[in-house]
Amino acid sequence: MQHDNTSATYRPQWRTGVGFLFAAIGSAVGLGNIWRFPYIAYKNGGGAFLIPYLVALVTAGIPILVLEFALGHQKKGSAPKAFSMINRKYEWLGWWSVIFIMFGIMAYYTVVIGWCFNYLCFSFAQSWGNDPNSFFFDSFLHTSSGVWDIQGMNPMILTAVALIWFINWAITFQGLEKGIERAVKFMMPVLFIITAIIVIWSLFLDGAGSGIKLYLTPDFSKITNVDVWVAAYGQIFFSLSLGFGIMIAYASYLPQNANIFKNSIIVACTNSFYEIFAGFGVFAVLGYMAFKQSVPIQETVTSGIGLAFVAYPKAISMLPFGTVFGILFFFLLCIAGISSSISIIEAFSAALNDKFGLQRNKMITLLCGFGFLESMLFTTHAGLFWLDIVDHFINHYGLITVGLLEAVIVGWIYKTDTLKAHILSRMGASGTQYKFFRQTILRVWEFCIRYITPAALGIALINSLITEFSESYEGYPVSGIIILGVGWLLVTHGAAVVVSGLAWKKPPGNE
Ligand code: TRP
Repeated sequence: MQHDNTSATYRPQWRTGVGFLFAAIGSAVGLGNIWRFPYIAYKNGGGAFLIPYLVALVTAGIPILVLEFALGHQKKGSAPKAFSMINRKYEWLGWWSVIFIMFGIMAYYTVVIGWCFNYLCFSFAQSWGNDPNSFFFDSFLHTSSGVWDIQGMNPMILTAVALIWFINWAITFQGLEKGIERAVKFMMPVLFIITAIIVIWSLFLDGAGSGIKLYLTPDFSKITNVDVWVAAYGQIFFSLSLGFGIMIAYASYLPQNANIFKNSIIVACTNSFYEIFAGFGVFAVLGYMAFKQSVPIQETVTSGIGLAFVAYPKAISMLPFGTVFGILFFFLLCIAGISSSISIIEAFSAALNDKFGLQRNKMITLLCGFGFLESMLFTTHAGLFWLDIVDHFINHYGLITVGLLEAVIVGWIYKTDTLKAHILSRMGASGTQYKFFRQTILRVWEFCIRYITPAALGIALINSLITEFSESYEGYPVSGIIILGVGWLLVTHGAAVVVSGLAWKKPPGNE
């Protein structure tokens, strides 16, 4: 068994195993599961999408989750600490992921949770009226003419975003156990119950069947399309919070003998089950709308933002007891979002704490304050365009690149042997009868990390690049794309290199 030989300093620990599981599942289950998955699945072949999706889960999702959990647990550290213990040269990778998530995804993710909060309030009076589409884009967002036409901020959204940052601060400020663990122990059961109510309610609506049929009807012709596979890997990464540095930090707070493998499987399966299940609810409601308006169901299907803030409000207005449905739905989105957003604050502050020994409370206040300032950009009239571009680049390049490098560094440079031993020794009561089985599973894991994951992610990355250069993303001007997307990744990368060059307050020992 590997023993930790570094931390003489205090490191918090999860009070219970369930607390950890709720926190990790809380991070994974987020807005991405509810509004992103169903649409991606539909667009990429419906029921047939389950094939690339499950392949991505098994060949990259679960292996990388096991890797992140094992690495964080073995090194008892945040992403930068874990990578610097492999070799100081790779510390930047840990910094890069937490920096671009904290100041990239997080900045707009909190804004979307803010919108959900605004819509939660609107639900009481169904303030979106008869035309939720123009309500959302014109009256609510005041969408401007393009990326550089920023105009001003929307005060209502700004207020909601301030509230969301405040809640994030209030939870994380109180520490791991008293803050995050306590919050998720309340939020996760509520989340599951409300989801079950909404999905079951939706299934009983008229026309639900036609929606489900559309969701699941396989279109096998899509399976040969590389884009579909890229979408599957992208979805798995975003949804499981992989490449965020979050799972590494969360696992570092587990007790010495925690079962890494079992925990990974539980988190990965719950997350995928949740998004497939949520898809039934989403498509049942779309089927109901098509039925009510007597239009073909295809016409009611829209993507992410349009789904939650245009299609759903429309459906809520038509439903009997729609007000209740609306309140439940937007409350659900708020909870799902907050249980995800707190996780990156934790991952980032853990990194700062590991490296500079900074005091937690002050750090979290500063982080949340700075994050809020950054979120302001997305509350402007051009916010929607910025959101779209940042989201596109981080999902298509950032997360996948981090995952690829993680797999290569651990698989080829660090070598998987010590991690394998670490996982194996914690796989539960050791009977010799399972030993062969367990070793085989770990061999498969190793094979995935060394060959399959890098190959799959490498192809995904190259394919995204080819598409990027052959067609400008959604018609945005190319200069805007380059400055915002690639520039952003380079700037955060530079910052990561600089931070990783600074001295450790207390250098972590090498394994
Ligand atoms: N996995 C989340 C989802 O599916 C995304 C997420 C997790 C996230 N942690 C985060 C986004 C932290 C921003 C910040 O929606």
